[in-house]
Amino acid sequence: MTHPSKRPVTAVIVVAAGSGERLGYGMPKALVPLGGEAILMHALRGVVAADVARQICIAVPKGDTELRELIAEFTVELVDGGPELTVVDGGSTRADSVRAGLAALEDGTEFVLVHDAARALAPERVFQRVADALASGAKAVIPAMPVVDTIKTVAATGDADSGIAPEIVTGTATREELRAVQTPQGFDVATLRRAHDAAALFDDRQSAAVTDDAMLVELQGVPVHAVRGASQSLKITTPLDLIIAEGLLEGPLGIRWVEG
Ligand code: CTP
Ligand code: MG
Repeated sequence: MTHPSKRPVTAVIVVAAGSGERLGYGMPKALVPLGGEAILMHALRGVVAADVARQICIAVPKGDTELRELIAEFTVELVDGGPELTVVDGGSTRADSVRAGLAALEDGTEFVLVHDAARALAPERVFQRVADALASGAKAVIPAMPVVDTIKTVAATGDADSGIAPEIVTGTATREELRAVQTPQGFDVATLRRAHDAAALFDDRQSAAVTDDAMLVELQGVPVHAVRGASQSLKITTPLDLIIAEGLLEGPLGIRWVEG
């Protein structure tokens, strides 16, 4: 184990500023209860338990007071010498929220992990795998999982009303080469800042196509390394995902049973 003072200075940005449209609770997704506690609280407990961060920077929806209150209560629970919590207003896109977090990192931060609050049950070992790969010299690291479905590309036929089908298959991807990508994604801070500065100039169509941080780093020509993710890091997006997450918390076998 490295001496604490020799550990690289690492921050985690938790993006929790989304509105949760697809979950449909009429409140920010990070506030939605899971096992009796807000989704954000599960995510924060996971980050603290992973013990990789000196600072945790949380992006919440602009104008929110409830998440800020929960974070303030959580701060009181943290022991002396624990991570510093910083709260920032998120933006209108996920990338804007990440940029707001990057702007609030303490001077001297070397590595940053960007984590979706919506992946509330991501296990400690995944944070540690990502942090270990950064400490070994990677500039960018993502947790990734094999894909179980066969993935095809399609194009619209314009035949929606013709009675056949609205789409035609244009190809089948080689499944062995595909990965479903999760968070936390880890980066050398300067690398991620450069990638996000470039993305800040994107037009609306390009911005809409940005679904993770690693793709911005890929556009800079920086190699992105993949470590193994975990099934329980599922992104809570739809009501079905919330049922699965509740099941992981309450199931008779317990969350530790889940592989990965
Ligand atoms: N996020 C954010 N700021 C935004 C949009 C998203 O911080 N402007 C965060 C969400 O809070 C979430 C993560 O990015 O933790 C992944 O986004 P997603 O799962 O799409 O969450 P929402 O945008 O809240 O959900 P929806 O798209 O259904 O509205
Ligand atoms: Mg969204």
